[in-house]
Amino acid sequence: MPRDATPADFAAILALNEAFVAVLSPLDGERLARLHAQAELHRVIEQDGRVAAFLLAFREGADYDSPNYRWFAQRQARFLYVDRIVVAGDAQARGAGSRLYRDVYARASRDGVPLITCEFDIEPPNPASARFHARLGFREVGRQQLDHGSKTVSLQALDVVAGNTPPGKIGAG
Ligand SMILES: CC(C)(COP(=O)(O)OP(=O)(O)OC[C@H]1O[C@@H](n2cnc3c(N)ncnc32)[C@H](O)[C@@H]1OP(=O)(O)O)[C@@H](O)C(=O)NCCC(=O)NCCS
Repeated sequence: MPRDATPADFAAILALNEAFVAVLSPLDGERLARLHAQAELHRVIEQDGRVAAFLLAFREGADYDSPNYRWFAQRQARFLYVDRIVVAGDAQARGAGSRLYRDVYARASRDGVPLITCEFDIEPPNPASARFHARLGFREVGRQQLDHGSKTVSLQALDVVAGNTPPGKIGAG
């Protein structure tokens, strides 16, 4: 089951980020420590004694310079932004990502936050992430080009209805 990340997990989190850095933004120890301090949710899933997945999410008002976070901050008063989610290659497609999203939905619902937001790459494409987020009920609310036009992301949002069970497949599995 997911639990809060601690500094003792940072090395494993950095390794997971590095393994999928092509579809994320780079992280080093200093930046991860800063993001950890700003995060509303920083969760990990341990499997067989190792960190097999992590998720970092921020509320509005965080001190975070990501262009995708800023895109939402300029348009939404209240949101919970999932900055990154990574499941180790050999642990994927077994529900870990969905379990991490259940925590996100529960936190947003508890705190009356109306929107969960995130993005994924569409150029070059990340079809596993596109499918994962569509299955959870996310919809596209915008697009932007990054890295001098070499990357295009789809900005995504999921409505939160307080007291409701999570939509899509978040509640399943
Ligand atoms: C995207 C990711 C977080 C999903 O986590 P997960 O634990 O594998 O996903 P779950 O098992 O909870 O959900 C599985 C669903 O995700 C989608 N999915 C997951 N892996 C997939 C793959 N390799 N190919 C296609 N769809 C995939 C499917 O829709 C699947 O549901 P279905 O089989 O019923 O259609 C994970 O694959 C990952 O970490 N990928 C690498 C990093 C990444 O892309 N992060 C997101 C950046 S925006």
